[in-house]
Amino acid sequence: MTGRVDVAVVGAGIIGLSIAWRCAQRGLSVSVHDTGAGNAWGVAAGMLAPVGESTFGHEHLTGLLVEGSRRWPAFAAELAALTGVDVGYRDEGTLTVALTADDVAGADRLWDHQEAAGLRLTRLAPSELRDWEPALSPRVRRGAHAPDDRQVDPRRVVAALRTLVPVTEAPPDARTTVVAAGCGTAALTGLPIRPVKGQVLRLRGDAGTLRHVIRGYADGRHVYLVPRADGEIVVGATEEERADAAVTAGGVAELLRAALDLVPELAECELAEAAVGHRPGTPDNAPVIGRLPGRADVVVASGHHRHGVLLAPITADIVADEITGTPAPEAWSPRRFA
Ligand code: GLY
Repeated sequence: MTGRVDVAVVGAGIIGLSIAWRCAQRGLSVSVHDTGAGNAWGVAAGMLAPVGESTFGHEHLTGLLVEGSRRWPAFAAELAALTGVDVGYRDEGTLTVALTADDVAGADRLWDHQEAAGLRLTRLAPSELRDWEPALSPRVRRGAHAPDDRQVDPRRVVAALRTLVPVTEAPPDARTTVVAAGCGTAALTGLPIRPVKGQVLRLRGDAGTLRHVIRGYADGRHVYLVPRADGEIVVGATEEERADAAVTAGGVAELLRAALDLVPELAECELAEAAVGHRPGTPDNAPVIGRLPGRADVVVASGHHRHGVLLAPITADIVADEITGTPAPEAWSPRRFA
């Protein structure tokens, strides 16, 4: 692409592409440049989980996560209708389960916390759990269903977005530059964004082994299992304050041990992939969305940490609003780190 465009997006992941698509829909000329730096979307499980991801210390994010989730059904439907790509949108909700008495005590505290935040949960007795999810181990003692959690397949979402938004080799001259480069945003903007390593596995088994996204507490370990319609089951994820990209024996063992404790028949699955992604985390673990202080021509959209997929549509709307004259919310502004 040559000549000056209205918006140049630096970063061709799920956030950057969503922003470019929404800006183009508002009549802006747009280019997208792939830095090759951010890879979180390619590893992410794609849980849209305002309930499952609302844990202690994340209270300041609950409203954003709920609103972000509310925008996904229309975003997914529009994307699928325009591109013909099935983006793997599913809305069976999350089943959170606990194995040991200690796990149950911890899960009960978490469910109380989530309900106090106004999030919907149905607590299930042990006898009900196997009706909801027959593959669960009989050792699983307690569970709760969060009907408002959903999922997409981020690889399919990005494939769909790439058919709508061409990606260029180099960024052209632009009136506004949007930096949505995941962990690469730190080097480009000076903002305090750190990599938070996540090891994620992909199993391949019979389609329908699991009916829901499962989040499980198993002997103090935490795991999530995200089943796709084609038999893939994503098993995630470690959360490590590290920047290296090594898949470790310990990381894989912890994830598989928890997964097999909860769903023993997963032992029959092929271990198809083990990968590492880096979540872009800020000091308060909330995203940074808005104008870069001292640079009125630069808008930042990064720092989404565990919520990049969930927050892609709402981030795209906020950035498109900002560029077309409706200021982004102060709460997520990069000014808080100035
Ligand atoms: N959103 C799940 C994760 O970051 O592991």
